Amino acid sequence: APSDPDLVERARAAKAALGDRVFVLGHHYQRSEVIQFADVTGDSFKLAREAAARPDAPYIVFCGVHFMAESADILTSDEQTVILPDLAAGCSMADMAAIAQVEDAWEQLEAAGIAQRTIPVTYMNSSAAIKAFTGRHGGTVCTSSNARTALEWAFDEVGGVVGEGKVLFLPDQHLGRNTAVRELGLSLDDCVVWDPHRPNGGLTPEQLAGARMILWRGHCSVHGRFTVDAVETARREIPGVKVIVHPECQYEVVQLADEVGSTEKIIQTIAAAPDGTAWVVGTELNLVKRLAEQFPGQRIAFLEKNVCYCSTMNRIDLPHLVWALESLVDRRVVNPITVDPQVAADARIALDRMLALPG
Ligand code: 13P
Ligand code: SF4
Repeated sequence: APSDPDLVERARAAKAALGDRVFVLGHHYQRSEVIQFADVTGDSFKLAREAAARPDAPYIVFCGVHFMAESADILTSDEQTVILPDLAAGCSMADMAAIAQVEDAWEQLEAAGIAQRTIPVTYMNSSAAIKAFTGRHGGTVCTSSNARTALEWAFDEVGGVVGEGKVLFLPDQHLGRNTAVRELGLSLDDCVVWDPHRPNGGLTPEQLAGARMILWRGHCSVHGRFTVDAVETARREIPGVKVIVHPECQYEVVQLADEVGSTEKIIQTIAAAPDGTAWVVGTELNLVKRLAEQFPGQRIAFLEKNVCYCSTMNRIDLPHLVWALESLVDRRVVNPITVDPQVAADARIALDRMLALPG
């Protein structure tokens, strides 16, 4: 639906009144009515970098989800305030790893003599507390655009990809498995899934001892729903179609795709393709719709009809953005995201490790 012209005008006026005092970041999954007001758009890695690179903006309005705003708060100075226009914009995947569960899993891995040669690698899509755990245990954060480099770094830390060392990958089992098997050459048998609801993660001592990747049992409720059937149907119905998906999709789906990548990479790949290319895209619907509008010369369709928007990304709408901006004009800060200083200090270690990865 087209944005309400009155709200568009109010957002424009508030941004103009605030000038350089506000910097608006927009994730690629945001609604178009919101993304039109973003000073920078990006995937979660680019937005983390952008937040860190704006020391002069006293207010950063983060149009994305909670874990992204938390990371921005950790990476910015104490004088800067990060605002999330709707606090209900969480992430179901991030919620699948609670800090108490992760600490408990680590204790069990310690008791089994496994933790001593294991390094945690934590997907950006996690709470600040999990990132802090990662920082305390020598690990790194990663995003979908640098998961390979992060895993290579982690295995180097524990003695190389061919060796005894292990990675505990949190919380997205699919990104962990896809990266380990497709990009590091590990096998599916090298990967086990730790179920936090079962004793010892539901794993036997032999399974744990033999594993190289211990994958947390988390997934994205949007990307996890794309199916092999949808890929096969698209290939049958659209001659020459190219299938491009996000690495949060299930392994079997990613194996059938022509291209795999973060939201930023999906955009770049499609932008670089010749006119007339037919695509089906397995990622969030706001982005897919925008790609279809941006590249009318290509034929761009959504991979699966019964998958819908990321409901939490969609919580940020134009009314919430206008409210956040107009409040700032009135010198009121609504919905600031503030991470506890000790948690932030530990999480920053893991985030800085990611930012220092090559590439
Ligand atoms: P990107 O890292 O590709 O931006 O993805 C973030 C996300 O939430 C995917 O579901
Ligand atoms: Fe979380 Fe999935 Fe939504 Fe990304 S698309 S914010 S991983 S629920």
